[in-house]
Amino acid sequence: MAWMAVMLLALSAAATSAPALAEPRRSVVDDCAACHGEDGIARDTEVPHLAGQNERYLFNQMMAFRSGKRAHKEMRYMARHMSVQEIAALAAYYAALPPR
Ligand code: HEC
Repeated sequence: MAWMAVMLLALSAAATSAPALAEPRRSVVDDCAACHGEDGIARDTEVPHLAGQNERYLFNQMMAFRSGKRAHKEMRYMARHMSVQEIAALAAYYAALPPR
């Protein structure tokens, strides 16, 4: 029953995204800035901008990197030990920055 698996996934995603930290840790944001820019605008054309992107989308992508569902060596490395709270805080942080 595939639909049940989909339902369960949707439910667990909703449950895990709820409580966010007030702010992501500065040391973590500094790591991200090396590639995604201090302001969430990437200077390298192979790196996506994060500033002003939809919060839920950013959260989902980070979770996908963490699990390996979305395959990318650097991003998997960055996300692999992150807590859901940290990922939620990062998503909120970048979503709130002004887009380019
Ligand atoms: C070594 C460089 C590097 C670092 C450091 C890095 N990223 Fe990335 N990030 C990338 C690249 C390159 C991509 C594009 C991945 C792809 O092509 O699938 C990406 C993709 C993403 C995406 C998906 C964006 C989208 O539009 O789909 C998010 C979200 C993200 N990074 C967040 C972060 C956060 C938060 C940090 C800090 C914890 C971070 N990244 C650190 C290089 C980096």
